Amino acid sequence: MAGRIPQQFIDELISRVDIVDVIDARVPLRKKGREHVACCPFHNEKTPSFTVSQSKQFYHCFGCGAHGTALGFLMEYEHLDFVEAVEKLAAGAGLSVPREGGESAPRGPSPQPLYELMEQSAQHYQQQLRRHPQRQRAVDYLKRRGLSGEIAAAFGIGYAADGWDNLLKTLGTDKERQDRLLTVGMLIEKDDGRRYDRFRDRIMFPIRDTRGRIIAFGGRILDKGEPKYLNSPETPIFHKGRELYGLYEARQALREIPRLLVVEGYMDVVALAQFDIRYAVATLGTAVTKDHLERLFRTASEVVFCFDGDRAGRDAAWRGLENALPLMREGHQLHFMFLPEGEDPDTLVRSAGKDGFERLIDQAQPLSEYFFGQMGKQADISRLDGRARLVELCRPYLSKLPPGVYRHLMLDRLAQLAHMERDALERMLGGEAAPAAPAPAATKAKKPAAAASRHQPSLVRSAIALLLQRPALAQLAEEPQQLAGLQLPGTQLLMEMLELLRRHPHLTTGALLEHWRESDQGRHLFALAQRDMLLTAEEDNLEQEFCDTLARLVQQLRRQRRLELEQRFAELSEVEKTEYGQLLKGGG
Ligand code: UTP
Ligand code: MN
Repeated sequence: MAGRIPQQFIDELISRVDIVDVIDARVPLRKKGREHVACCPFHNEKTPSFTVSQSKQFYHCFGCGAHGTALGFLMEYEHLDFVEAVEKLAAGAGLSVPREGGESAPRGPSPQPLYELMEQSAQHYQQQLRRHPQRQRAVDYLKRRGLSGEIAAAFGIGYAADGWDNLLKTLGTDKERQDRLLTVGMLIEKDDGRRYDRFRDRIMFPIRDTRGRIIAFGGRILDKGEPKYLNSPETPIFHKGRELYGLYEARQALREIPRLLVVEGYMDVVALAQFDIRYAVATLGTAVTKDHLERLFRTASEVVFCFDGDRAGRDAAWRGLENALPLMREGHQLHFMFLPEGEDPDTLVRSAGKDGFERLIDQAQPLSEYFFGQMGKQADISRLDGRARLVELCRPYLSKLPPGVYRHLMLDRLAQLAHMERDALERMLGGEAAPAAPAPAATKAKKPAAAASRHQPSLVRSAIALLLQRPALAQLAEEPQQLAGLQLPGTQLLMEMLELLRRHPHLTTGALLEHWRESDQGRHLFALAQRDMLLTAEEDNLEQEFCDTLARLVQQLRRQRRLELEQRFAELSEVEKTEYGQLLKGGG
């Protein structure tokens, strides 16, 4: 496996490319004032609210809230994962992507031959379905399940004939190929070293990654027997918690995918496709993970979970909900649909037909309704203590929502249910409020500290916001290290940001956002950067504001130190007493 992409390369990459070129090549932009605009590619609109800032290397849609850097844009627009987007962006800029460990470090063998063998395996199974002497059993089975040849071909469905070495003999023509077949899980090795086919007498469903490469198989038994579905094991090219069966096929079948339906089984995906519902995908027998959800929301703005109404299905839905909360922002919708006892999408679409089934999808519950419905079952909201309990129950979940309109609406709903003031609720949840108004520190007359700090963002937050607004300000901070002792949330981030910018003065807002993408702070930074995109006021006093903010931080640090010394005044050493005297004189 290739090593990690060094962060420094990503910082450089974001600074080298121009987001305006990257987006304009895909969504033609029009210049408007300092910004570039277009109709948003991520939601339907007639007047452009999709705005790209060249100076900040950042885009934001005022309509749906979509936002990000050049890298984020490629991920959303072309449905790429992070590494794929980095590679594409780098290729466009004529750079090759370095990996940690460098070229000389031992690298795993290239996976290319493994993909080729998987492709050949799929072709072999498809041929068997057409030619094998015992093909009729498999064909009859598929017919009985109502599959047309066209859909079977679209999904590459095949047949692994009975026998221990069909695949082994056909594809394992030399030792190296046999070893590779073992690596990708198509063969099993016994203790005595003898090898045999993993899949025997099964209907074969190839599993493709987002680029269409076959990475694994699921094999269904023809009659009754165990296991009903046999899947490829984890291999160097297959990690089952990340893949979605049918996603590639959906993208092939549809030009635009407004919504994706998540179902439980292979046959459900295929049966829905047979009824011209081409937007269903299945996890491979695992819960819906955050990885899955990121991939789903990169493809469609609406995701519908379609699970059994039984205990297991409801548990799976709830786990999916928990994993989805951090991704819920305006423009992302998650719905829940539960099937009647004894039905699955395969059986239901056969009885209800396409229109009937789609009507059921349309009636799926939105996340908010499902969530508060479930929570409401555990608290009697006709009573005061029940309403208090409701708030307590909801707290850990709602605090996972990113700041923004969606979170706001969820809190409104809770406030309504709990008969509470929204502000009081916000305080109880202890989360940060929706991005606060920028601190007009330099333009306003100074207020007494206590009053000023109540309604303004913290100083650290202001300093970070100003740096995001104009990274060059970092050059004004003389000794970032002097802030080290400051016991305020965000101090560490502020210092890291100052140091990074002092070492690499050309980094843009976009580069900073990418630098912290993976960290907890990342989404707060995005929120701050978006807020500042709303600022159109002239920016002449940013420098003054930044210097004032730093000065106030230093002041705060001195005050903190003075209080510290006062705490143990009787025990101070001579040196500390001198320090204390200086702090007093300096107004600390
Ligand atoms: P189900 O048992 O619900 O099967 O498993 P199904 O999709 O209705 O299949 P048919 O209609 O009987 O053919 C749902 C999913 O769980 C995984 C598979 O991914 C399957 O599609 N599974 C199930 C396994 O991996 N192994 C099994 O033995 C059973
Ligand atoms: Mn079924």
